[in-house]
Parts: sequence; C-alpha cells; structure tokens
Amino acid sequence: MAASPQAVYWLGNDTLRVSAALFAENRRRLCEGLKAKDGLVPQSVVLLQGGEQTQRYCTDTDQLFRQESFFHWAFGVTEADCYGAIDVDSGKSILFVPKLPESYATWMGEIYPKEHFKTKYAVDEVHYTCDIADVLSNMSPAVLLTLRGQNTDSGSICREASFEGISRFTVNNIFLHPVIVECRLIKTDMELEVLRYTNRISSEAHKMVMKHVRPGQKEYEMESLFQHYCYKKGGMRHTSYTCICGTGHNASVLHYGHAGAPNDKTITDGDMCLFDMGGEYYCYSSDITCSFPANGKFTADQRAIYEAVLKSSRAVMAAIRPGVKWTDMHRLADRVHLEELVKIGILTGSVDDMLRVHLGSIFMPHGLGHLLGIDVHDVGGYPEGIERIDEPGLRSLRMGRLVQERMVLTVEPGIYFINHLLNQALANPAQSCFINNQVLARFRGFGGVRIEDDIAVTHDGIELLTCVPRTVEEIEAFMAKPAKLFSPV
Ligand code: GLY
Ligand code: MN
Ligand code: MN
Repeated sequence: MAASPQAVYWLGNDTLRVSAALFAENRRRLCEGLKAKDGLVPQSVVLLQGGEQTQRYCTDTDQLFRQESFFHWAFGVTEADCYGAIDVDSGKSILFVPKLPESYATWMGEIYPKEHFKTKYAVDEVHYTCDIADVLSNMSPAVLLTLRGQNTDSGSICREASFEGISRFTVNNIFLHPVIVECRLIKTDMELEVLRYTNRISSEAHKMVMKHVRPGQKEYEMESLFQHYCYKKGGMRHTSYTCICGTGHNASVLHYGHAGAPNDKTITDGDMCLFDMGGEYYCYSSDITCSFPANGKFTADQRAIYEAVLKSSRAVMAAIRPGVKWTDMHRLADRVHLEELVKIGILTGSVDDMLRVHLGSIFMPHGLGHLLGIDVHDVGGYPEGIERIDEPGLRSLRMGRLVQERMVLTVEPGIYFINHLLNQALANPAQSCFINNQVLARFRGFGGVRIEDDIAVTHDGIELLTCVPRTVEEIEAFMAKPAKLFSPV
C-alpha cells in the first residue's frame, strides 16, 4: 500500500529525508517473497515484535534505545515496545503501540493518540499492544508467521514475537526467517539512497578526523571527533559499531576500542593510524576504515604495506560483478598480499605454495568483507545449503554466496603484524620456510593497515559508496592542507 507523502523521517538541517514508502516497499517485497514460496497457507499473517526498552542493570535508568533490525526493516518505527502485523494476502499493515500510563506525560512527554502513529508511519491501522490478541483474532488468520532463525555471524537466535494469548493461534516460526533474510539481502533504490547518505556523512567525518589528528592526542579524541561530526552534521545518534581507533601496535588488534582497550593510547609521531568507524542513520549502517600516518607523511615501510593493501582492494573492486564467488574475492586479496609481501622482502618463494599452507591468513586473519545494511554485519551471508569454508581466514568470511546485483558489501582487505600469529607461523616449518625473519623483525610493532570501503553491486560491477582519500599521494596532500574547512564545531 502506498505511504502517505507526509510520512517522512527527517532530523532537519541537511539530514536525509527518508519516506515511509521505503518500508511499505519492504513489506510489499516480503509478501511477494512469501507468496512465491511453496507451502504458504492462505490467510497467513506476519507478526514481528519490535525491540524493548531496557534499563541499565537493576536501575531505572533507560538504555538508549535502538530498534530491532527486522522490525525496523518492515516498519521504520523508532519507538520501543511495538509489534507489527502484515496480512500477506492483502498487504494490509497493522502497527501495535503501547498504551502509555498517565505518568508518561510527566516524565517522557506527550502521549500521542493512535492516529498520530498511523500518519507518522503510513500504516493501514494502529492498535494498542494490550489489544493484540483480539485484533489478530478478528483477522481470523490461518497461521501467524513469527520470526525465528539463527544469525550466521553471531550464532544467536533472533527473538520470536510473543504476547499474552498467542496460544489461541496457530503459529509457524520457521517459514518467515529465510524469506525476510533474502529480502534484506537485496537493497531497494530507497535503501541504497540511505546507504549512500550514511557513507557520505561517515566519509566526511573520517576526513575531518584525518585533518585534525596530531601526535600527542589520545585515540579517543579521534573517536569523539568522528561521533561529533556524524551527529552534528548527519543526525546520527548511533554509530554502527564501537569505534576502532588503533594507532601504532594497536592497529593490529582487529576489534580494538572495546571496554578493555578503549582507544586510550596517546598517538605518537611515526604511528600508523587505523580508524574503523561508521555512522548509522535511521538504523542504516556504514563501515569505513582509513589507515594513514599520524604525522601525515608515510615512511618507506608504511607506504609499502599501505600500497600492498590498496593494490588488493583495487584488484578485488575491479573483479566484483554479479556471479562471482565472494570466497574467490577473498582468495584474490590473499594472493595480492602475498605477492606484495614477497616484493617487500618479508616473504620469499612461490606464492602458490604459500597459498597451499594458508600463509595469507597470518597477515589477514579476517574475512575480506561482509554484507552491510540495517546491521553492519548484515544478514544473509550463509543461507541454508551454503557452508563456511573451514580454512584459516576463509572461516571468518561472513558471506559465502555468489555476488548479486543490489547487494551492499564492504571490501576491507588488510595486512597486520600480529605477534602471536607471526610467532605461530615461525614455529610452523611449513610456513616459516617462506618468512624472512630479519626483514619481518622491522615490522614488529608496526600495527597494520586496513582499507575498508562500502560498495553496492550493479548489473556489471560496483558503485563505490565511500569517498575518502585513498592513494598515498591523496592522503599526504589532504593531510598537508589546513583544517579550517572542517572545523569540528
Ligand atoms: N568494523 C567491523 C568490521 O569492519 O567488520
Ligand atoms: Mn569496519
Ligand atoms: Mn567491516
């Protein structure tokens, strides 16, 4: 059903307007996908439960709410504690919102009538969640389709909708998940527009950080600048994941920045910076990594490693098109890295022989890239029938399928000097025979380089969504220019 034209998410200023039509289109595609599947019973009703407002441990302090991703995809609702139903035959959409106590008006603000949400989200009907069993009963559904399935990255099972009185209904909790995941895998034009926006703002934020980084500052100051830019200029209250601001040796820690290593090192002259940060707008993600020298000038070794990674990034981007295997793209990146490490002198011997003993995974232990959408590691990487390849490196790849038009993916090759992996390789005669330990010793403590861009797959190649300086020359020229255009306030 068409969304009313006034139903738009917008945070004012130059932030993006996102029409509720985006979610109407998602619901339409979901109904189409369900109808195309054998075994759908007439009068099926999809029932999704949105995210719940939670508190900090045992206190009464609310956590900052972020919507559950499947529910967001289908309804675009920002409030907590809602449900949504979709009648598959007609496409009719019903939103259930909580009936709020009077005290809400004192502590939280205006209590809006149901009509407000009908207009705001352009759905066909709005009811209170306390009436959900009765409203659904009146629809006489043959079956309620609830969402249960495993996230193939975390292994966690998504939480299935549940409400008092659900035992009165016939429920099927396995039919919906694979269909909605396939829908989320392929991005619509309206979704691509939002992902272009998250990338544009996050790219600008990265550039602003590059302009302001100086030896002597703390890594967390860079995190703070990034978040400030994304929120102030882009209306992004959340980032897609915890900011990774590794400098020097910390750049070799793949997910640095967590509570145990909270971006708290002082940046020193001569450090490489590896800043992996992405802003999120209206629950749509971005995931960008820039690697560059803190002082703005690459040393010969920094340039060599950086250009090796850039070469693999470019090789992969030139090869991506619908039909290629993502696992082959990962293998291509590995091959380029090994070839370049031979040229640098860290490795010697036949690259084919190195590939046979998985030497590439010592330097790039993570996957080449992953699907991106409402989740930064978006769903759909391993549908039923596609298994992970159980080899070093490839087993960390979050997508095992063929590339398809309208997928959005990250391309994020990297070369890292991770002491325990290097020591492991040196202790393994099948791998150590390729390593020139004297040259390698020079790179202990170097950290690492990752170059991460977000791309949308087109009918014959890619659209690059990320726009930041990438070559050594571009980075040095960019960092040498004064920062005044990018004032953080
Ligand atoms: N920032 C996490 C990742 O690159 O996948
Ligand atoms: Mn990243
Ligand atoms: Mn990533």
